[in-house]
Amino acid sequence: MEHTINQLLNYLLMKRRDFISTGSTFVAGSLLASPMIGLSENLILGKKTKLAMVGTGVRGTNMWGKSVVEEYSDHVEFVGLCDINPGRVEYAKKYLNVSCPTYTDFTKMMTETKPDILIVTTKDSIHHEYIIKGMEFGANIITEKPMTTDETKCQQILDAEKKTGKKVTVTFNYRYSPHRARIYELLRAGVIGKITSADFHWYLNTSHGSDYFRRWHRLKEEGGTLLVHKSTHHFDLMNWWLESEPSEVVAFGQLDFYGKNNSFRSTNCRPCVHKEKCKFYWDMTKNQELMDLYAANEKHDGYLRDGCVWKEDINIYDKMAVMVKYANNVQLSYSLTTYSPYEGYRIAFQGTEGRIDAWIKESFREGISEKYDEIMITKNFGDVEYIHVPHGGGGHGGGDSKLKDFIFKNQTVDPLRQSAGVRDGAMSILTGIAARKSIETGKSIKVADLTELKPLAKKI
Ligand SMILES: NC(=O)c1ccc[n+]([C@@H]2O[C@H](COP(=O)([O-])OP(=O)(O)OC[C@H]3O[C@@H](n4cnc5c(N)ncnc54)[C@H](O)[C@@H]3O)[C@@H](O)[C@H]2O)c1
Repeated sequence: MEHTINQLLNYLLMKRRDFISTGSTFVAGSLLASPMIGLSENLILGKKTKLAMVGTGVRGTNMWGKSVVEEYSDHVEFVGLCDINPGRVEYAKKYLNVSCPTYTDFTKMMTETKPDILIVTTKDSIHHEYIIKGMEFGANIITEKPMTTDETKCQQILDAEKKTGKKVTVTFNYRYSPHRARIYELLRAGVIGKITSADFHWYLNTSHGSDYFRRWHRLKEEGGTLLVHKSTHHFDLMNWWLESEPSEVVAFGQLDFYGKNNSFRSTNCRPCVHKEKCKFYWDMTKNQELMDLYAANEKHDGYLRDGCVWKEDINIYDKMAVMVKYANNVQLSYSLTTYSPYEGYRIAFQGTEGRIDAWIKESFREGISEKYDEIMITKNFGDVEYIHVPHGGGGHGGGDSKLKDFIFKNQTVDPLRQSAGVRDGAMSILTGIAARKSIETGKSIKVADLTELKPLAKKI
Protein backbone atom coordinates (compact mmCIF):
# COMPACT_ATOMS: atom_id res chain seq x y z
CA MET A 1 0.00 0.00 0.00
CA GLU A 2 2.88 2.36 0.84
CA HIS A 3 3.94 1.89 -2.78
CA THR A 4 0.55 3.08 -4.02
CA ILE A 5 0.58 6.09 -1.73
CA ASN A 6 4.06 7.10 -2.93
CA GLN A 7 2.93 6.74 -6.53
CA LEU A 8 0.00 9.00 -5.76
CA LEU A 9 2.16 11.60 -4.08
CA ASN A 10 4.58 11.62 -7.01
CA TYR A 11 1.66 12.02 -9.33
CA LEU A 12 0.39 14.89 -7.23
CA LEU A 13 3.72 16.62 -7.31
CA MET A 14 3.76 16.31 -11.09
CA LYS A 15 0.25 17.70 -11.34
CA ARG A 16 1.18 20.57 -9.09
CA ARG A 17 4.19 21.39 -11.27
CA ASP A 18 1.91 21.29 -14.30
CA PHE A 19 -0.48 23.66 -12.63
CA ILE A 20 2.22 26.02 -11.51
CA SER A 21 3.95 26.14 -14.87
CA THR A 22 0.66 27.01 -16.57
CA GLY A 23 -0.92 29.06 -13.77
CA SER A 24 -0.43 32.71 -12.97
CA THR A 25 1.24 32.22 -9.59
CA PHE A 26 4.79 30.94 -9.21
CA VAL A 27 6.59 30.23 -6.00
CA ALA A 28 10.08 28.69 -5.94
CA GLY A 29 10.04 25.06 -4.85
CA SER A 30 6.89 24.30 -6.84
CA LEU A 31 4.46 25.20 -4.11
CA LEU A 32 1.50 27.50 -4.40
CA ALA A 33 1.42 30.94 -2.85
CA SER A 34 -1.10 31.25 -0.06
CA PRO A 35 -4.00 33.71 -0.20
CA MET A 36 -2.75 34.77 3.24
CA ILE A 37 0.62 35.86 1.90
CA GLY A 38 -0.10 39.51 2.75
CA LEU A 39 0.04 38.59 6.41
CA SER A 40 3.59 37.26 6.19
CA GLU A 41 5.45 40.52 5.51
CA ASN A 42 6.44 40.94 9.14
CA LEU A 43 7.74 37.39 9.32
CA ILE A 44 10.04 38.13 6.41
CA LEU A 45 11.15 41.42 7.99
CA GLY A 46 11.70 39.67 11.36
CA LYS A 47 9.18 42.00 13.05
CA LYS A 48 6.50 40.90 15.49
CA THR A 49 3.01 41.13 14.02
CA LYS A 50 0.61 43.20 16.14
CA LEU A 51 -2.61 41.32 16.92
CA ALA A 52 -5.89 42.59 18.31
CA MET A 53 -8.93 40.46 19.08
CA VAL A 54 -12.63 41.26 19.26
CA GLY A 55 -14.83 38.67 20.99
CA THR A 56 -13.09 37.05 23.96
CA GLY A 57 -15.29 33.99 24.44
CA VAL A 58 -14.08 30.42 24.60
CA ARG A 59 -12.93 30.21 20.97
CA GLY A 60 -11.12 33.53 21.04
CA THR A 61 -9.37 33.00 24.36
CA ASN A 62 -8.27 29.43 23.63
CA MET A 63 -7.72 28.79 19.93
CA TRP A 64 -6.69 32.36 19.05
CA GLY A 65 -5.58 33.59 22.49
CA LYS A 66 -3.75 31.48 25.05
CA SER A 67 -2.29 29.00 22.58
CA VAL A 68 -1.09 31.77 20.24
CA VAL A 69 0.63 33.56 23.14
CA GLU A 70 2.22 30.31 24.31
CA GLU A 71 3.31 28.98 20.94
CA TYR A 72 3.86 31.94 18.61
CA SER A 73 5.12 34.80 20.78
CA ASP A 74 8.36 34.86 18.79
CA HIS A 75 6.28 36.09 15.82
CA VAL A 76 3.25 37.89 17.24
CA GLU A 77 2.13 40.03 20.16
CA PHE A 78 -1.30 41.08 21.39
CA VAL A 79 -1.78 44.84 21.45
CA GLY A 80 -5.49 44.92 22.36
CA LEU A 81 -8.46 42.78 23.45
CA CYS A 82 -12.07 43.87 23.03
CA ASP A 83 -15.48 42.50 24.06
CA ILE A 84 -18.82 44.05 24.92
CA ASN A 85 -18.64 42.22 28.24
CA PRO A 86 -16.16 44.12 30.46
CA GLY A 87 -15.78 41.22 32.89
CA ARG A 88 -15.04 38.67 30.18
CA VAL A 89 -12.42 40.82 28.47
CA GLU A 90 -10.62 41.36 31.80
CA TYR A 91 -10.71 37.62 32.46
CA ALA A 92 -9.34 37.02 28.96
CA LYS A 93 -6.37 39.30 29.62
CA LYS A 94 -5.46 37.32 32.77
CA TYR A 95 -6.09 33.98 31.08
CA LEU A 96 -3.87 34.89 28.12
CA ASN A 97 -1.25 36.28 30.51
CA VAL A 98 -0.74 39.40 28.39
CA SER A 99 -0.15 43.02 29.37
CA CYS A 100 -2.00 44.76 26.51
CA PRO A 101 -4.95 47.12 27.20
CA THR A 102 -8.54 45.86 27.15
CA TYR A 103 -11.50 47.66 25.58
CA THR A 104 -15.27 47.57 25.35
CA ASP A 105 -15.07 50.27 22.65
CA PHE A 106 -13.82 48.76 19.38
CA THR A 107 -13.10 52.08 17.64
CA LYS A 108 -10.96 53.17 20.57
CA MET A 109 -8.99 49.92 20.45
CA MET A 110 -8.30 50.20 16.72
CA THR A 111 -7.38 53.89 16.96
CA GLU A 112 -5.03 53.42 19.90
CA THR A 113 -3.40 50.08 19.04
CA LYS A 114 -3.24 50.05 15.21
CA PRO A 115 -2.97 46.25 14.87
CA ASP A 116 -1.60 44.54 11.75
CA ILE A 117 -4.17 41.79 12.17
CA LEU A 118 -7.60 41.84 13.76
CA ILE A 119 -8.93 38.48 14.95
CA VAL A 120 -12.74 38.38 14.85
CA THR A 121 -14.21 35.83 17.27
CA THR A 122 -17.53 37.38 18.30
CA LYS A 123 -20.90 35.73 17.77
CA ASP A 124 -21.56 35.22 14.05
CA SER A 125 -24.20 37.87 13.37
CA ILE A 126 -21.78 40.72 14.12
CA HIS A 127 -18.64 39.39 12.34
CA HIS A 128 -19.27 41.57 9.28
CA GLU A 129 -19.21 44.83 11.26
CA TYR A 130 -15.80 44.10 12.73
CA ILE A 131 -14.38 42.61 9.53
CA ILE A 132 -15.38 45.73 7.60
CA LYS A 133 -14.36 48.29 10.24
CA GLY A 134 -11.14 46.38 10.89
CA MET A 135 -10.12 46.65 7.24
CA GLU A 136 -11.11 50.33 7.17
CA PHE A 137 -8.71 50.81 10.09
CA GLY A 138 -5.95 49.22 7.98
CA ALA A 139 -5.82 45.72 9.49
CA ASN A 140 -5.85 42.38 7.72
CA ILE A 141 -8.52 40.12 9.15
CA ILE A 142 -8.53 36.63 10.55
CA THR A 143 -12.16 35.72 11.11
CA GLU A 144 -13.71 32.67 12.60
CA LYS A 145 -16.28 30.84 10.53
CA PRO A 146 -18.92 31.52 9.36
CA MET A 147 -17.63 34.67 7.67
CA THR A 148 -21.11 36.12 8.13
CA THR A 149 -24.76 35.05 8.25
CA ASP A 150 -26.58 36.47 5.21
CA GLU A 151 -25.99 37.52 1.63
CA THR A 152 -26.28 41.29 2.23
CA LYS A 153 -23.56 41.26 4.89
CA CYS A 154 -21.51 38.97 2.65
CA GLN A 155 -21.66 41.47 -0.22
CA GLN A 156 -20.67 44.27 2.17
CA ILE A 157 -17.55 42.31 3.16
CA LEU A 158 -16.66 41.63 -0.50
CA ASP A 159 -17.02 45.35 -1.25
CA ALA A 160 -14.93 46.39 1.76
CA GLU A 161 -12.09 44.03 0.88
CA LYS A 162 -11.96 45.48 -2.63
CA LYS A 163 -12.19 49.06 -1.40
CA THR A 164 -9.55 48.82 1.32
CA GLY A 165 -7.11 46.44 -0.41
CA LYS A 166 -6.86 44.48 2.86
CA LYS A 167 -7.21 40.73 3.18
CA VAL A 168 -9.77 38.52 4.92
CA THR A 169 -8.69 35.04 5.98
CA VAL A 170 -11.42 32.64 7.07
CA THR A 171 -10.16 30.01 9.47
CA PHE A 172 -11.36 26.74 8.03
CA ASN A 173 -9.52 24.47 10.43
CA TYR A 174 -11.39 21.41 9.08
CA ARG A 175 -9.32 21.52 5.89
CA TYR A 176 -6.15 20.91 7.89
CA SER A 177 -6.97 17.54 9.48
CA PRO A 178 -4.69 14.85 7.99
CA HIS A 179 -7.61 12.58 7.05
CA ARG A 180 -9.39 15.27 5.06
CA ALA A 181 -6.13 16.44 3.51
CA ARG A 182 -5.50 12.89 2.28
CA ILE A 183 -8.96 12.77 0.71
CA TYR A 184 -8.09 16.01 -1.10
CA GLU A 185 -4.84 14.48 -2.39
CA LEU A 186 -6.58 11.34 -3.61
CA LEU A 187 -9.26 13.31 -5.44
CA ARG A 188 -6.67 15.59 -7.07
CA ALA A 189 -4.64 12.55 -8.09
CA GLY A 190 -7.70 11.35 -9.99
CA VAL A 191 -7.87 7.90 -8.39
CA ILE A 192 -11.64 7.61 -9.07
CA GLY A 193 -11.61 9.43 -12.41
CA LYS A 194 -13.91 12.40 -12.90
CA ILE A 195 -16.03 13.03 -9.80
CA THR A 196 -19.74 12.96 -10.60
CA SER A 197 -21.55 12.91 -7.23
CA ALA A 198 -20.97 13.00 -3.50
CA ASP A 199 -22.77 12.05 -0.28
CA PHE A 200 -21.97 13.88 2.93
CA HIS A 201 -23.82 13.17 6.18
CA TRP A 202 -22.80 14.77 9.45
CA TYR A 203 -24.01 13.52 12.83
CA LEU A 204 -23.75 15.74 15.90
CA ASN A 205 -24.34 13.72 19.04
CA THR A 206 -26.74 14.62 21.85
CA SER A 207 -23.98 16.38 23.79
CA HIS A 208 -22.29 18.39 21.01
CA GLY A 209 -25.51 18.88 19.02
CA SER A 210 -27.50 20.13 22.00
CA ASP A 211 -24.86 22.73 22.81
CA TYR A 212 -25.94 24.73 19.74
CA PHE A 213 -29.43 25.00 21.26
CA ARG A 214 -28.24 26.43 24.59
CA ARG A 215 -27.09 29.92 23.57
CA TRP A 216 -27.14 32.46 20.69
CA HIS A 217 -26.72 29.78 18.00
CA ARG A 218 -30.33 28.75 18.71
CA LEU A 219 -31.58 31.92 16.98
CA LYS A 220 -31.67 32.31 13.20
CA GLU A 221 -30.81 36.00 13.50
CA GLU A 222 -27.60 35.26 15.47
CA GLY A 223 -26.04 32.23 13.74
CA GLY A 224 -27.97 32.10 10.45
CA THR A 225 -29.19 28.57 11.45
CA LEU A 226 -26.85 25.59 11.65
CA LEU A 227 -26.92 25.45 7.83
CA VAL A 228 -24.67 28.52 8.05
CA HIS A 229 -23.10 28.37 11.52
CA LYS A 230 -22.11 24.69 11.40
CA SER A 231 -22.50 23.56 7.79
CA THR A 232 -20.18 26.34 6.57
CA HIS A 233 -17.37 23.95 7.60
CA HIS A 234 -18.90 21.09 5.63
CA PHE A 235 -19.79 23.09 2.54
CA ASP A 236 -16.31 24.60 2.56
CA LEU A 237 -14.77 21.12 2.69
CA MET A 238 -16.93 20.09 -0.23
CA ASN A 239 -16.02 23.16 -2.32
CA TRP A 240 -12.35 22.49 -1.56
CA TRP A 241 -12.52 18.74 -2.22
CA LEU A 242 -14.43 19.22 -5.48
CA GLU A 243 -12.43 22.33 -6.50
CA SER A 244 -15.70 23.81 -7.66
CA GLU A 245 -18.41 26.19 -6.45
CA PRO A 246 -22.09 25.57 -5.64
CA SER A 247 -24.58 26.81 -8.23
CA GLU A 248 -28.06 25.64 -7.13
CA VAL A 249 -29.56 24.48 -3.84
CA VAL A 250 -32.75 22.75 -2.70
CA ALA A 251 -33.33 21.98 0.99
CA PHE A 252 -35.64 20.77 3.73
CA GLY A 253 -35.35 21.49 7.44
CA GLN A 254 -37.44 21.24 10.60
CA LEU A 255 -37.27 21.71 14.33
CA ASP A 256 -38.82 18.54 15.70
CA PHE A 257 -36.69 17.59 18.71
CA TYR A 258 -35.36 20.58 20.70
CA GLY A 259 -37.10 23.84 21.67
CA LYS A 260 -40.86 23.75 21.82
CA ASN A 261 -40.90 19.94 21.41
CA ASN A 262 -40.80 19.16 25.14
CA SER A 263 -43.30 19.38 28.01
CA PHE A 264 -41.01 21.17 30.51
CA ARG A 265 -38.35 23.84 30.32
CA SER A 266 -36.31 26.37 32.30
CA THR A 267 -34.12 29.39 31.64
CA ASN A 268 -30.89 27.40 32.16
CA CYS A 269 -29.57 24.27 33.83
CA ARG A 270 -28.12 25.59 37.10
CA PRO A 271 -31.42 26.70 38.75
CA CYS A 272 -33.60 24.13 36.91
CA VAL A 273 -36.19 22.19 38.92
CA HIS A 274 -36.27 19.42 36.29
CA LYS A 275 -32.59 18.41 36.69
CA GLU A 276 -33.38 14.87 37.82
CA LYS A 277 -35.52 13.95 34.84
CA CYS A 278 -33.92 16.04 32.03
CA LYS A 279 -31.48 14.02 29.90
CA PHE A 280 -29.99 17.31 28.72
CA TYR A 281 -29.19 18.62 32.19
CA TRP A 282 -25.61 19.90 32.01
CA ASP A 283 -23.69 20.87 35.12
CA MET A 284 -21.34 23.62 33.96
CA THR A 285 -20.21 24.24 37.56
CA LYS A 286 -17.86 21.29 37.03
CA ASN A 287 -15.90 23.30 34.46
CA GLN A 288 -14.03 26.11 36.24
CA GLU A 289 -12.90 27.77 32.99
CA LEU A 290 -16.50 28.11 31.79
CA MET A 291 -17.60 29.34 35.22
CA ASP A 292 -14.90 32.05 35.16
CA LEU A 293 -15.49 33.06 31.53
CA TYR A 294 -19.29 33.00 31.47
CA ALA A 295 -21.06 32.47 34.84
CA ALA A 296 -18.92 35.09 36.62
CA ASN A 297 -19.82 37.64 33.93
CA GLU A 298 -23.55 36.99 33.52
CA LYS A 299 -24.21 40.11 35.58
CA HIS A 300 -22.92 42.29 32.72
CA ASP A 301 -24.99 40.91 29.83
CA GLY A 302 -27.25 38.07 31.01
CA TYR A 303 -25.47 35.58 28.71
CA LEU A 304 -26.39 32.09 30.02
CA ARG A 305 -23.82 29.55 28.81
CA ASP A 306 -25.93 26.63 30.12
CA GLY A 307 -29.23 27.80 28.54
CA CYS A 308 -32.16 25.38 28.35
CA VAL A 309 -32.36 23.35 25.12
CA TRP A 310 -36.16 23.39 25.41
CA LYS A 311 -36.56 27.18 25.21
CA GLU A 312 -39.57 28.13 23.14
CA ASP A 313 -37.72 30.91 21.30
CA ILE A 314 -35.46 28.40 19.49
CA ASN A 315 -36.10 29.04 15.80
CA ILE A 316 -33.40 27.05 13.97
CA TYR A 317 -33.80 23.59 12.40
CA ASP A 318 -32.49 20.50 14.16
CA LYS A 319 -32.61 18.23 11.10
CA MET A 320 -31.58 19.38 7.65
CA ALA A 321 -31.31 17.79 4.21
CA VAL A 322 -29.74 19.66 1.29
CA MET A 323 -29.18 18.89 -2.40
CA VAL A 324 -26.51 20.97 -4.13
CA LYS A 325 -25.66 21.16 -7.80
CA TYR A 326 -22.11 22.33 -8.42
CA ALA A 327 -20.96 24.50 -11.30
CA ASN A 328 -18.93 21.50 -12.56
CA ASN A 329 -22.12 19.38 -12.55
CA VAL A 330 -21.27 17.32 -9.48
CA GLN A 331 -24.40 16.57 -7.41
CA LEU A 332 -24.16 16.56 -3.60
CA SER A 333 -26.58 14.99 -1.09
CA TYR A 334 -25.92 16.47 2.35
CA SER A 335 -27.58 16.14 5.75
CA LEU A 336 -26.99 17.42 9.27
CA THR A 337 -28.41 15.74 12.38
CA THR A 338 -28.18 17.29 15.84
CA TYR A 339 -29.27 14.56 18.29
CA SER A 340 -27.42 11.44 17.16
CA PRO A 341 -26.27 8.84 19.74
CA TYR A 342 -22.76 9.15 18.30
CA GLU A 343 -20.69 11.88 16.70
CA GLY A 344 -19.15 11.60 13.25
CA TYR A 345 -19.72 11.71 9.52
CA ARG A 346 -19.85 9.69 6.36
CA ILE A 347 -18.46 10.98 3.11
CA ALA A 348 -18.42 9.34 -0.30
CA PHE A 349 -17.36 10.46 -3.76
CA GLN A 350 -18.51 8.62 -6.86
CA GLY A 351 -16.32 9.00 -9.91
CA THR A 352 -16.28 7.61 -13.42
CA GLU A 353 -13.69 5.03 -12.36
CA GLY A 354 -14.62 4.21 -8.78
CA ARG A 355 -15.57 5.42 -5.38
CA ILE A 356 -13.94 6.86 -2.27
CA ASP A 357 -15.67 6.27 1.08
CA ALA A 358 -14.63 7.57 4.49
CA TRP A 359 -16.24 7.41 7.93
CA ILE A 360 -15.40 9.14 11.13
CA LYS A 361 -16.95 8.12 14.43
CA GLU A 362 -15.55 10.55 16.92
CA SER A 363 -17.28 9.40 20.09
CA PHE A 364 -18.07 5.78 19.22
CA ARG A 365 -15.13 3.98 17.69
CA GLU A 366 -16.05 0.33 18.03
CA GLY A 367 -13.87 -1.71 15.69
CA ILE A 368 -11.97 1.35 14.51
CA SER A 369 -8.44 2.02 15.68
CA GLU A 370 -7.99 5.01 17.96
CA LYS A 371 -4.76 5.83 16.13
CA TYR A 372 -5.91 6.32 12.56
CA ASP A 373 -8.86 7.17 10.33
CA GLU A 374 -9.70 5.11 7.31
CA ILE A 375 -10.35 5.84 3.64
CA MET A 376 -11.67 3.13 1.33
CA ILE A 377 -10.99 3.29 -2.40
CA THR A 378 -13.02 0.94 -4.59
CA LYS A 379 -12.28 0.78 -8.30
CA ASN A 380 -15.13 0.02 -10.69
CA PHE A 381 -14.55 -3.63 -11.72
CA GLY A 382 -11.45 -3.60 -9.50
CA ASP A 383 -10.05 -4.05 -6.02
CA VAL A 384 -10.67 -2.35 -2.71
CA GLU A 385 -7.82 -0.52 -1.04
CA TYR A 386 -7.79 0.82 2.53
CA ILE A 387 -5.69 3.79 3.52
CA HIS A 388 -5.04 4.49 7.20
CA VAL A 389 -4.32 8.09 8.09
CA PRO A 390 -2.83 8.71 11.57
CA HIS A 391 -4.73 11.26 13.66
CA GLY A 392 -3.27 14.71 14.08
CA GLY A 393 -2.97 15.74 17.75
CA GLY A 394 -5.07 18.55 19.27
CA GLY A 395 -8.44 20.12 18.47
CA HIS A 396 -10.55 19.32 15.38
CA GLY A 397 -8.56 16.26 14.30
CA GLY A 398 -5.26 18.13 14.42
CA GLY A 399 -6.65 20.89 12.19
CA ASP A 400 -6.44 23.68 14.79
CA SER A 401 -2.69 23.51 15.37
CA LYS A 402 -1.83 22.99 11.70
CA LEU A 403 -3.92 26.03 10.80
CA LYS A 404 -2.14 28.18 13.39
CA ASP A 405 1.28 26.96 12.28
CA PHE A 406 0.34 27.86 8.76
CA ILE A 407 -0.86 31.34 9.68
CA PHE A 408 1.78 32.32 12.20
CA LYS A 409 4.90 30.47 11.01
CA ASN A 410 5.01 29.30 7.47
CA GLN A 411 2.41 30.99 5.40
CA THR A 412 4.22 31.37 2.09
CA VAL A 413 3.59 27.80 0.94
CA ASP A 414 0.26 26.07 0.64
CA PRO A 415 0.59 22.90 -1.42
CA LEU A 416 -2.91 21.61 -0.64
CA ARG A 417 -4.53 25.02 -1.00
CA GLN A 418 -5.81 24.82 2.59
CA SER A 419 -5.85 28.52 3.36
CA ALA A 420 -9.13 30.27 2.65
CA GLY A 421 -9.82 33.83 1.57
CA VAL A 422 -12.95 35.91 1.21
CA ARG A 423 -14.31 34.04 -1.83
CA ASP A 424 -13.99 30.69 -0.02
CA GLY A 425 -15.64 32.23 3.05
CA ALA A 426 -18.48 33.51 0.87
CA MET A 427 -19.01 30.34 -1.15
CA SER A 428 -19.16 28.20 1.97
CA ILE A 429 -21.94 30.28 3.55
CA LEU A 430 -23.84 30.89 0.32
CA THR A 431 -24.80 27.19 0.13
CA GLY A 432 -26.24 27.41 3.67
CA ILE A 433 -27.93 30.75 3.00
CA ALA A 434 -29.45 29.34 -0.19
CA ALA A 435 -30.56 26.22 1.71
CA ARG A 436 -32.24 28.40 4.36
CA LYS A 437 -34.02 30.36 1.62
CA SER A 438 -35.08 27.15 -0.08
CA ILE A 439 -36.61 25.86 3.17
CA GLU A 440 -38.40 29.18 3.72
CA THR A 441 -39.72 29.53 0.15
CA GLY A 442 -40.05 25.90 -0.99
CA LYS A 443 -38.05 26.85 -4.09
CA SER A 444 -34.74 25.95 -5.63
CA ILE A 445 -32.23 28.82 -5.09
CA LYS A 446 -29.49 29.90 -7.49
CA VAL A 447 -26.29 30.96 -5.73
CA ALA A 448 -25.57 33.50 -8.49
CA ASP A 449 -28.70 35.43 -7.42
CA LEU A 450 -27.40 36.06 -3.88
CA THR A 451 -24.28 38.24 -4.35
CA GLU A 452 -22.10 39.49 -7.20
CA LEU A 453 -20.14 36.20 -7.11
CA LYS A 454 -20.89 33.88 -10.02
CA PRO A 455 -20.09 30.22 -9.24
CA LEU A 456 -17.07 28.87 -11.13
CA ALA A 457 -16.85 25.32 -12.46
CA LYS A 458 -13.19 25.32 -11.41
CA LYS A 459 -12.63 27.18 -8.20
CA ILE A 460 -9.75 29.66 -8.20
N1 LIG B 1 -13.72 26.90 13.71
C1 LIG B 1 -14.26 26.27 14.73
O1 LIG B 1 -14.15 25.06 14.81
C2 LIG B 1 -15.02 27.06 15.78
C3 LIG B 1 -15.29 26.47 17.01
C4 LIG B 1 -15.99 27.25 17.95
C5 LIG B 1 -16.41 28.53 17.64
N2 LIG B 1 -16.12 29.05 16.43
C6 LIG B 1 -16.56 30.42 16.09
O2 LIG B 1 -15.93 31.32 16.96
C7 LIG B 1 -16.80 32.43 17.23
C8 LIG B 1 -16.95 32.59 18.74
O3 LIG B 1 -17.52 31.42 19.29
P1 LIG B 1 -17.58 31.18 20.87
O4 LIG B 1 -18.02 29.80 21.09
O5 LIG B 1 -16.32 31.65 21.51
O6 LIG B 1 -18.77 32.18 21.24
P2 LIG B 1 -18.97 32.96 22.61
O7 LIG B 1 -20.37 33.41 22.64
O8 LIG B 1 -18.50 32.13 23.72
O9 LIG B 1 -17.99 34.21 22.49
C9 LIG B 1 -18.30 35.29 21.71
C10 LIG B 1 -17.83 36.54 22.42
O10 LIG B 1 -18.23 37.65 21.62
C11 LIG B 1 -18.70 38.66 22.50
N3 LIG B 1 -19.60 39.54 21.77
C12 LIG B 1 -20.88 39.32 21.44
N4 LIG B 1 -21.38 40.38 20.77
C13 LIG B 1 -20.37 41.27 20.66
C14 LIG B 1 -20.26 42.56 20.07
N5 LIG B 1 -21.29 43.14 19.46
N6 LIG B 1 -19.08 43.18 20.14
C15 LIG B 1 -18.02 42.61 20.76
N7 LIG B 1 -18.06 41.41 21.35
C16 LIG B 1 -19.23 40.75 21.29
C17 LIG B 1 -19.38 37.93 23.63
O11 LIG B 1 -19.47 38.72 24.79
C18 LIG B 1 -18.46 36.73 23.81
O12 LIG B 1 -17.44 36.99 24.75
C19 LIG B 1 -18.11 32.13 16.51
O13 LIG B 1 -18.16 32.84 15.32
C20 LIG B 1 -18.05 30.64 16.25
O14 LIG B 1 -18.72 30.28 15.05
C21 LIG B 1 -15.43 28.34 15.51
